[in-house]
Amino acid sequence: MDWKWKTIIEPFKIKSVEPLGFTTREERLKILNAAHYNLFNIRAEKVLIDLLTDSGTGAMSAAQWGGIMIGDESYAGARSYYTFEREVKGLTGFAEIIPVHQGRAAEKILFGVIGGRGKYIISNSHFDTTRANVEFSGAQAVDFPVKEALDFDKPAPFKGNADITAMEKFINEKGAKNIPLCVMTVTNNSLGGQPVSMENLKAAQNLCRKHGIPLFLDCARFAENAYFIKLREKGYAQCPVREIAQEMFELADGAWMSSKKDALVNIGGFLAMNNRDWSAKARQMLILTEGFNTYGGLAGRDLEAIAIGLREVLDENYLQYRIRSAQYLGEGLLKRGVPIINPPGGHGVYVNARKFLPHLKPQRFPAQSLACALYLEGGIRGVEIGTLMFGRRDAKNNFLAAPMELVRLAMPRRVYTQSHIDYVIEVLGALAKKKKTIKGLEVVEAPKVLAHFTAKLKPAGGRSA
Ligand code: F0G
Repeated sequence: MDWKWKTIIEPFKIKSVEPLGFTTREERLKILNAAHYNLFNIRAEKVLIDLLTDSGTGAMSAAQWGGIMIGDESYAGARSYYTFEREVKGLTGFAEIIPVHQGRAAEKILFGVIGGRGKYIISNSHFDTTRANVEFSGAQAVDFPVKEALDFDKPAPFKGNADITAMEKFINEKGAKNIPLCVMTVTNNSLGGQPVSMENLKAAQNLCRKHGIPLFLDCARFAENAYFIKLREKGYAQCPVREIAQEMFELADGAWMSSKKDALVNIGGFLAMNNRDWSAKARQMLILTEGFNTYGGLAGRDLEAIAIGLREVLDENYLQYRIRSAQYLGEGLLKRGVPIINPPGGHGVYVNARKFLPHLKPQRFPAQSLACALYLEGGIRGVEIGTLMFGRRDAKNNFLAAPMELVRLAMPRRVYTQSHIDYVIEVLGALAKKKKTIKGLEVVEAPKVLAHFTAKLKPAGGRSA
């Protein structure tokens, strides 16, 4: 790509617009109180800039909307399925392509087939739903991030990598026969949306081959990962990003995808593999829980939109803009004294609330407090990844400190422009100046499981403004 200018522009023009939800500070204080300081309880129309997730929140292209109109809604053998299958096969090279309604449906089916008590699934890092589905099957999910992943301040090119030496030690301890799968999450969402290098994927493949363990990719953000390889890994600068993605898939025996991310659609996913024994079992589960083989919980039109999105996402003008947007937000925040996981990942920026608000103890939920302060200050919604989300409790039901206190600012794809991001930087910059005034929170009530979605909180020691 030949772009000599400093300004990276949005590589699209806007055909259809939606109004933003403007509110006053006074209104937001009332809304926060009514929502019990839990941003999941706030109506989206009361949010100005919604950075809760990049999942299913992207804008489809005119071509995708066109695809929606030609979707074939036949129950069996729909043309749209074959369009989708051809596209996913062309990209991933896998033989068995199973559509599902979203990523966690693929996880539920796969771990239903290969999980179970006494088994271990190993990974660079499992995403929450992956871990939950592994554990639901009775197996254990074990993460092997590299050490630099946990040093948030120090930049490194591939903080999403797995610690292959630690993985091998674990395999030798537990026995390969008890480890039915190794999964590499690309990019590594739980640890900042950081990329995995091709070198690390190759090392994972070698390790898995040596021990006879199948290797899968959780490829929700495969295109962002491939673009980082192009930018940062030796030997890939001249390689088309589609070929880099294909090389990533060639190293694996299968993959699953939440298409709500890098397929640029609002719903969808797939499970893909070469193992016909596993796929036959998976298809039985599919029919039981999702739908028939040729739609799997989706409408024909969704399959069309995914097929188009999987091509569009590999457009390098799009990826340049996408990765630059997160970097731009990250740089702006660092300049204003807001600590982040550095460098920013592919799909957003993770603010290090522990470092930002050292006056708040984990039991005062610093990341949740910051997320609420950000909403109050500017109507911006991020998500807490900290003591509330990890949700571990002691015998007296007190929350135990999580290993990190982060606020994820995830960027929906093709939705916000640079001025929206400038606004986010300005609001967080203003908060940085008065961060000592940000008070902590305490829990009023919280369920045992997945507390962060429904917990009720309040400002610790009285009302805060
Ligand atoms: N794997 C990864 C790496 C993910 O980030 C997600 C979802 C899933 C699997 C599950 O897919 O939502 O389609 O069922 N991540 C969203 C997020 C929810 O906000 O990061 P799903």
